[in-house]
Parts: sequence; structure tokens; C-alpha cells
Amino acid sequence: MANPAAAKPEQRCITPVCGAVYAIHERVYLCSKCGGPLEVDCHVSAIRDREALRKSWESRASSRAPRDISGVWRYRELLPFNDSAPFVTLFEGNTPIYDAPQSAKYCGLDALRLKHQGCNPTGSFKDTGMCIAVTQAVVLGARTVVCASTGNTAASLAAYAARAGLQPAILLPRGQITAAKLAQSMDYGALVCEIDGNFDDCMRLIQELGDDPSIYVANSINPFRIEGQKTVAFEMMNQRNWQTPDHVVVPGGNMGNSSALGKGFEELLGLGLIDHLPKLSVIQAEGASPLARLFAKLPARDAQPESPLPDVLEFEDHPRTLATAIKIGAPVSWKKALRAVMRSGGKILSVSEQEIADAKAMIGRDGIGCEPASATTVAGIKKLVAAGHIRRAESVVAVLTGHVLKDPDYVSAYHRGTLALESAGAEPLPIHGSFRNAPRRVEASKSAILKVLEPQR
Ligand code: F0G
Repeated sequence: MANPAAAKPEQRCITPVCGAVYAIHERVYLCSKCGGPLEVDCHVSAIRDREALRKSWESRASSRAPRDISGVWRYRELLPFNDSAPFVTLFEGNTPIYDAPQSAKYCGLDALRLKHQGCNPTGSFKDTGMCIAVTQAVVLGARTVVCASTGNTAASLAAYAARAGLQPAILLPRGQITAAKLAQSMDYGALVCEIDGNFDDCMRLIQELGDDPSIYVANSINPFRIEGQKTVAFEMMNQRNWQTPDHVVVPGGNMGNSSALGKGFEELLGLGLIDHLPKLSVIQAEGASPLARLFAKLPARDAQPESPLPDVLEFEDHPRTLATAIKIGAPVSWKKALRAVMRSGGKILSVSEQEIADAKAMIGRDGIGCEPASATTVAGIKKLVAAGHIRRAESVVAVLTGHVLKDPDYVSAYHRGTLALESAGAEPLPIHGSFRNAPRRVEASKSAILKVLEPQR
């Protein structure tokens, strides 16, 4: 089934007073007229036969063709490529939604579902966007693809670029990303540049490098990344038999993921495949929460539904959090994310290091591992339930963004009682694990082992 929308996809500036339009093959990341963010418009609401669309997506789940197996390319009618275009895949998507009864109880909910994007090929949600961005790099004839990263984007770009025969180059804040993520990028053959600075410094450099015609930028400032990541909304709804949850909750760092989910749900609404939007909430770590701070100052949307969104965000110069994936003070996609949250009636809030650490351990008690950034969701849901924004019986899906093995040092330190947030010029902030589970040293005898097991039997 070819892309059935009548008009050709194009790129458009999201700034309401600008709205500048760019051809789909133009290599552009920000609007050259007003500097605003761009998004791809696939004119999905022009698609008439939504039932045929839904049926073909569902039938592809049992196909053996690579484009159907991919949980991103399966939704290709809503992607900006035609059927004859090349496509890059590592069979991303197809991630599970788990029931998480322990985490639900912890949050004060009857039920909670966790969609685990850490089950993607490189262990994070980035893969759904990266297969699309790297495909566009191939279409444009790029040779070198670059990104700034706190680790996961880098690992994902490195893998997909290797797959496509392109040269990946990544900028990382030196000493601030986990060993596991760095190891992945090295293994996939990326040129790894460790920069003396933080993620925001790397991101600034990327925006300067983006002017160079030999380089293709694969950060989520690139609207093609968002196109891939929006399919998570399609897959989630497909798995839920098109029953919209009341709430969807995601972590927030550079704000690409929240922007993408918002776009995905809005496209489904435009198509008539869902009849309302889930409330989309974004959770940041307290020490890296510029958007949560801005959100707290905004007037309630119901009181002033038409008021324009703010144009300026006060960045956090020295972001601090042990959830290194979201240690970001100047999120590039904040405008898109804020727009998506506001349209849906969701919230943006922050949670403490202690809350993140305990929520992560609680997710573990459901037999589900994730990295610290992902656990902001459960910590945030607990707060939203306590504040009455989420009611006990409502349906809630949290998106876990990374695999537990992305940061095993954090997990070990939590359970051994040595986890602490260190920062220059300040006393370390110790984390007291409420659900600590340290290994015990046991003598090598049957009786000693039985004694340790005694309380459990
Ligand atoms: N969770 C994980 C595990 C991440 O790696 C990131 C972002 C986020 C959440 C936040 O998502 O940026 O779309 O709001 N990681 C980026 C990286 C910044 O470079 O890997 P976001």
C-alpha cells in the first residue's frame, strides 16, 4: 500500500506566525526565516480509508518481510518516504507493554502499564527515530552522520550508521556518560569525540556543525527523528486495541520523545483512529528541570485556553542528576514538547534523586529493569496521583526509555548503599535506598545457605 495521502510530505516551521515550508529533501534543521523548530507534515488527515490502513498494519505483524517486521516501518503510510525509497532497519520497535502491579501499588493506582522502549536493538527508545533519520541521510547521499549525546543517541546512531555503511561521529560530554553506552558506540565503529563540557555544550557545537554540507545531524532537532519516534504512539495504540489510555507519561531530557509521542497521538486523532488524546505528562530530574520550572509558572490552560505559549525558556546552566541520560539544561525541542503537553491537558514536573532511585528499584520488583532516567515516570506518576491529577482507576502507560544494563553501576551503588550525587564545590548528596537489596557474603556450606533462606521459606 503506497502512502495514500494525496499531497507530498513537506517540512514546516511550527512557529504560528511563520509557518515557512521546506521541501522534504531540503537539508534543514531549524527554520532559516525565524529560527523556529521544523516538523514533517505527511498530510495524514487526508487519508480517507482508515480501516484499510489499520488492517494492513495489523496484518503486517505476521509478515516475514523486513519492512513489515520493523515496528516503525510497519506504519510507513504515515512516514515521509515512498515505497521505492531505501530503508534502514535493525528490526526496531515491537516492544512489550507490561503490567506492573508492584509499581501500580507504589503509585496509588489500581493498575499501571509500562511500555519498555529499552527492549529496542541498542537498548533504548532512540532506535525508532534513528532508523528514519539514518534512512533520510542515505536518501540525501550524506557520508558522515553526527550527534551530541548523553549516550543513548550515540549508541543508536553508531549502530544504524554502521548498518547503512555511513560514518558515525559523536560528541559526548567527557566523563559524564555510562561505560556501557560508550562501549556500544566504540563497538559500532563510531568516531567518538569526548568534549570537555556538558551535553548542552556538545549540542551547541552540533548546531554549528550542521551548517557544513558534508555532515548530517541526527539529533532530535532533526524532524526525521521525530517521525520515527512518533510510531511508538501507533504501536502502543495497536497493542491496546485502539483504546486510548487516560495518561501517557514520559521522561524529559532534550524533549524529542515527548514531542514525538504528542505528534503521533495527534496524527491518530486527525485520522479518526482514536477519539481523544491521552493526557501527556513529562517528568524531569529536579537538577535538570528547566521546562518543569517554566510549566509551574504558566496559567492553567482551562482558564486561558487560547493564550500563546511562552517563547523563551530559562536554561539551567549547571544541570545535575545521576540520571545522566537526562542531564540536560537547554532542551532543544522544548517548544514542541510544551505544545504537545498543553494540547493534551498533561503536566510537566520534576522529581528528586531519591524519588527516581526508589521508583527504579520498585520497577525492578515487577521484574522489569530500566535505567534511572526511565524511572522518573513512575516517580512522577506517584506525585501526580498524590496531587489528584491522575485518579486511582484511570488507565496509565509509562514509557520506559532505556534498558537496566545501560547503567549497572548506578543499580549496584543503590543496592549497596553507596549511591550519592557528587558535584563540584558541594557536599555529596547521599541517596538512602528504601528498597536496598545488597548481596550477602555467605559461608560455602548447605547449612549456612539454608539459614540465609530461612526467613523466605
Ligand atoms: N531516557 C533516556 C534513557 C534517554 O537516553 C533520554 C535522552 C531521555 C530519556 C530523554 O529523552 O531527550 O527525547 O527528552 N537521551 C539523549 C541522548 C539526550 O543523547 O541519548 P528526550
